[in-house]
Amino acid sequence: MQDKEISGENAPETGPSPHQVNPRSDPMDALLAALRGAAEPTRLRIVALLAEGELTVSELVHILGQSQPRISRHLKLLAEAGLLTRHREGSWVFHRLSEEGLAANPGAEVARHLIALLPDNGNRGHILALDRDRLAAVKTARAEAAADYFDANAESWDSLRSLHVDDKDVETVIGGWLGRAPVHSLLDIGTGTGRILEVLSPVIERGVGIDQSREMLAVARANLERGACENCQVRQADLYRLPFDDGAFDAAVIHQVLHFLDEPAAAIAEAARVLTPGGHLVVADFLPHVMENLRDEHSHRRLGFADDEIRAWVTRAGLTSQDATRLAGDPLTVGVWLAEKPKPADTRNGPQYKETEQ
Ligand SMILES: C[S@@+](CC[C@H](N)C(=O)[O-])C[C@H]1O[C@@H](n2cnc3c(N)ncnc32)[C@H](O)[C@@H]1O
Repeated sequence: MQDKEISGENAPETGPSPHQVNPRSDPMDALLAALRGAAEPTRLRIVALLAEGELTVSELVHILGQSQPRISRHLKLLAEAGLLTRHREGSWVFHRLSEEGLAANPGAEVARHLIALLPDNGNRGHILALDRDRLAAVKTARAEAAADYFDANAESWDSLRSLHVDDKDVETVIGGWLGRAPVHSLLDIGTGTGRILEVLSPVIERGVGIDQSREMLAVARANLERGACENCQVRQADLYRLPFDDGAFDAAVIHQVLHFLDEPAAAIAEAARVLTPGGHLVVADFLPHVMENLRDEHSHRRLGFADDEIRAWVTRAGLTSQDATRLAGDPLTVGVWLAEKPKPADTRNGPQYKETEQ
């Protein structure tokens, strides 16, 4: 699939939109603009698709089977009506539904209500179901491409990643944060070659790493064995559907994984689910950068993340941001974030480590 050179911003303009929301306008005007913005079949289909996660213009072109200028025009109208926001990263532009809670922009609320009202039968319902099927195919193709990349690079991954930043500095930060209190059970999400488990093994009671790539896991097993990390194990699992009970871990790490994902926010939410109250999540990833070649050569989807983006996802997942730091590298800078799952006043018991059957 070709994403380059295609963006909403690059699309031909076709005159001012009658739907544009002025943030200072009357709330009723904003509501009417949001309703008008959505009141068109293709735009409603786009809203339905974005309910499943952020998408680029070319992905929407592929799914909806319409020309790029048409789709770009619809996206522009939806953005002006306050239903979606656009986020440019290099030559890609990601589109996502607006966040709720902006009083001056009821677009997010309108989108949420419309999604609940979408039909699942009849002719239109059938079209929406076909859109979902094509979206699933797009996601599968993307996931397969990324999985192929990891399978192909499993052996050399540790040397590949050290091209970007000095991992030891990042590991020192993570170890320092998680070392503030005893860690009984740690989950390393997207463990890859098991590096984080190896580093943290001496300071935790028990560690579990999950990854979808069998090849990565094979390398991780060998590394853990070589490093005598008997308290750690790895298993194959999807980070969007962790095979663990709520509250099963008191620490989780997502190290250099989010930039490969379709839905980084969903990955953080799933990590938060398996944390016990009082448990900690550490996220480490690149800060925004312009190395577009990482998409083609290393299967990256996102060119890093802004501090406020990670913090917003962490908050939405019900966690409290506790700390953050940046480690400048050349050319890539790594951000590391620490968040805590709030502890109800009456929580006295430690975490119960328990796996669910798959
Ligand atoms: C860049 S590697 C990072 C590995 C490790 N955290 C590290 O820093 O060395 C990203 C890992 O995420 C895994 N991954 C990507 N998508 C995944 C998913 N949906 N479920 C589980 N693992 C996934 C990949 O297989 C890969 O091993």
